[in-house]
Amino acid sequence: MARTDTAHQKWDETWRSAEGRLAWSRPEEDVLACAQECFDKGARRALDLGCGIGRHALALAEIGFDVDALDGSESGPAELKRSAESLGLPIRVHNGLMTDLPFEKSVFDYLLSFNVIYHGDPKIVGKALSEIRRVVKSGGTLQLTMLSKRNVFFGKGEEIAPNTFVDPNALDDKVHPHFYCNAAELIALLEGFEIRSLIDREHKPAHWHWHVIAERL
Ligand SMILES: C[S@@+](CC[C@H](N)C(=O)[O-])C[C@H]1O[C@@H](n2cnc3c(N)ncnc32)[C@H](O)[C@@H]1O
Repeated sequence: MARTDTAHQKWDETWRSAEGRLAWSRPEEDVLACAQECFDKGARRALDLGCGIGRHALALAEIGFDVDALDGSESGPAELKRSAESLGLPIRVHNGLMTDLPFEKSVFDYLLSFNVIYHGDPKIVGKALSEIRRVVKSGGTLQLTMLSKRNVFFGKGEEIAPNTFVDPNALDDKVHPHFYCNAAELIALLEGFEIRSLIDREHKPAHWHWHVIAERL
């Protein structure tokens, strides 16, 4: 069967253009708030998983975290390295896949994965979450987003695996597999975590995404 974790190839093109980077240059308010709260409570080591060009990795380093950032594309991490160097922020930047993290177990106090984990089928999502479970410390915080079944793209294109769609006519990364879930399915996927907050939020009209904050048990 063909690989389903290929969306980073499309993102690689996006990160190469100034226009593509522009929409992803400012950190999200809920990320800043959660990260700051974790830092204030003593969290120090952070991972930005699927960092893209690193808007959040840079913000985490500015808060004072010791930051690792990883992404499957080549151009995203390369851009982040340039930004971190010019700002004098000591971020460790990695090229790699979310399903095979190059970290020891139980090392991160805070792990962020914003609009990343759903790029694949249920097997890929499950593998990424098992890697996340492995690298987050007990008591550490996971903040992530997932695609909601309320999202306008749920059901568009070919269903190549349960709740996983590819739209050959899409102009964006939806030419690669995307996985969608409802609240019950998401809670089941987050085994090993205690959910503190779960909100379905519209990023743009009809673009619904789950926003999760959870604590590693
Ligand atoms: C929507 S962008 C979000 C970037 C960043 N998290 C942010 O909020 O600015 C999705 C990112 O996930 C990365 N990605 C997609 N699939 C991946 C995989 N299997 N492993 C690692 N990174 C992946 C893409 O390369 C892209 O940079």
